[in-house]
Amino acid sequence: MSKNISNLSGRIGLRDNLFKQISENKLSESPKDINEIAKEHNIGVSTIHGAESFYEFLRPSHREKKAFVCNGSACMCAGTQEPLKKRLKEKLGDDKVGEMFCLGYCYENHAFHYDGQNYAGNDINKIDEIISGNDLEQEKFYSESFASTSFLMDDKLSDIDKFENQLKKFINTDKQEIIKSLLDSNLTGRGGAGFPTGMKWDFCSKAKGDKKYVICNADEGDSGAYSDRYLLEDQALKVIFGMVVCGYVIGSDEGVLYIRGEYPKSIESLNASINLLKKQGLLGDNILGTDFSFDLGICIGQGAYICGEETALIASIEGRRAEVDVRPPFPVTEGLYKKPTVVNNVETLAAAAGILLNGAEKFSVIGNKKSAGTKLVCFDSFFNNPGVYEIEMGTPMKKVLYDIGGGFKEDIKALQIGGPLGGVIPIAEAEKLNLDFQEFTTAGFMLGHASIVSIPKDFPMVEYIHHLFEFTAEESCGKCFPGRLGSYRGKEMFDQLKSKKTKIPLKVLNDLLITMKKGCLCALCGAIPTPIMNILKYFGDEMKNDMVKEN
Ligand SMILES: Cc1cc2nc3c(=O)[nH]c(=O)nc-3n(C[C@H](O)[C@H](O)[C@H](O)COP(=O)(O)O)c2cc1C
Repeated sequence: MSKNISNLSGRIGLRDNLFKQISENKLSESPKDINEIAKEHNIGVSTIHGAESFYEFLRPSHREKKAFVCNGSACMCAGTQEPLKKRLKEKLGDDKVGEMFCLGYCYENHAFHYDGQNYAGNDINKIDEIISGNDLEQEKFYSESFASTSFLMDDKLSDIDKFENQLKKFINTDKQEIIKSLLDSNLTGRGGAGFPTGMKWDFCSKAKGDKKYVICNADEGDSGAYSDRYLLEDQALKVIFGMVVCGYVIGSDEGVLYIRGEYPKSIESLNASINLLKKQGLLGDNILGTDFSFDLGICIGQGAYICGEETALIASIEGRRAEVDVRPPFPVTEGLYKKPTVVNNVETLAAAAGILLNGAEKFSVIGNKKSAGTKLVCFDSFFNNPGVYEIEMGTPMKKVLYDIGGGFKEDIKALQIGGPLGGVIPIAEAEKLNLDFQEFTTAGFMLGHASIVSIPKDFPMVEYIHHLFEFTAEESCGKCFPGRLGSYRGKEMFDQLKSKKTKIPLKVLNDLLITMKKGCLCALCGAIPTPIMNILKYFGDEMKNDMVKEN
């Protein structure tokens, strides 16, 4: 069934893509009858309805609101959101203020969205100006490279001439040589799963297909993370360069950036770069007089965290409900519209570009084979030096937290590293580790995308677990039972504890966590037990009065 929908949606493809049509129609002043869209695509109307009812931003309850406060983990821990919500409600009305998940302003908090733009820090003090439509001068977050060679923050692709010169070189380089460089560099995917990038490009280049696609996964939803946002807004040409070279290597003539709708500035920045490159003939047909053509577009996410998972992301672009698909087949053989597809994270594509420009060896000598090169790390507002930093893999976490991050402004008991699905690490345990994917996993945590959210000493851990279950219950795609039901059951347990109705039956909670870990289809509901189990292990004492051992 879903194969048919993918094929039907693929007949129109990316140019007038079904998801874009569905979302633009739903958001327009006078939406047309969805039967018309269904007819155009020869798809059942239930499919269109299924898709449009999936996304937060397309729901009437969302569209009736005017402002949205960030409910990501970093803003929650900073405690800035309740007063912010109160002020916005006073201005706009009680029923006009909703919530959005992590807007990527973890370095200054107080984050909110109003009329298509994001605001944070002291911006609430200028709410009248914002409402009257004046553009606000906004401060940029701090960024710095601490690497011996910068692959991600340098200026080697900072303008269109540099882009053209480098592209000229690489689209005339042997494809196998480019794949070899990536394999030699030991670059692994930065989106979480850690698959070797050279291998992914190699598999896709060998896959059979009359059409192939390159997708840049710019759905960065992990709270605490704004490193992809940094690259999209400050290094857009580098990200695009990675996509174009990938297209050349795998034999694809079309790519798409799936950017979350919560990042309006990133969308603007990418749109501007794509238009410029098209004007200069560096995207489109017969680039630089060669027989290589590559077109690029943007798909704007509509408020669903699960769209970061690659199969859900593909389903979303195809205009299906963004539900996770079972793998294999993997996207490299059966991806977008069932055609061979490379899905890479923003940082992976930028790193691939950086490797080609600087040489694979410079990347591979940093860190070790499984954790090579440099990584962007984001610090939240509890750090003395909040911002995004390029750091060499293998760097001791003590150096990361205290020398680069500058230590903390107040007492911190734990860090959530790698987003809501990453581990919750007591400070003392974090200090024993190095910035290394495997070390984190072996110790029972996860480095993931390397965003760091600080949990202050006085922040109740039962609140934090409630937040994690609430997030998962809200964001689960609903396809598998353990995920859909388990996340709600977990949330209910902590709702009841908060309303002082019942204590947590520890045995039932453990059963639930094990069932979710073993039985869920993807790492949204399957990985959320990791931080919760970390909290139970390391902070059990803090919660002992909230738990009963036997049920
Ligand atoms: C629930 C969930 C959310 C994810 N979110 C993202 C995301 O926001 N960005 C991303 O690049 N990868 C995300 N991933 C990983 C992707 O499925 C995929 O592995 C990645 O995009 C592949 O690119 P890479 O090889 O460059 O890492 C997510 C995975 C899961 C299970």
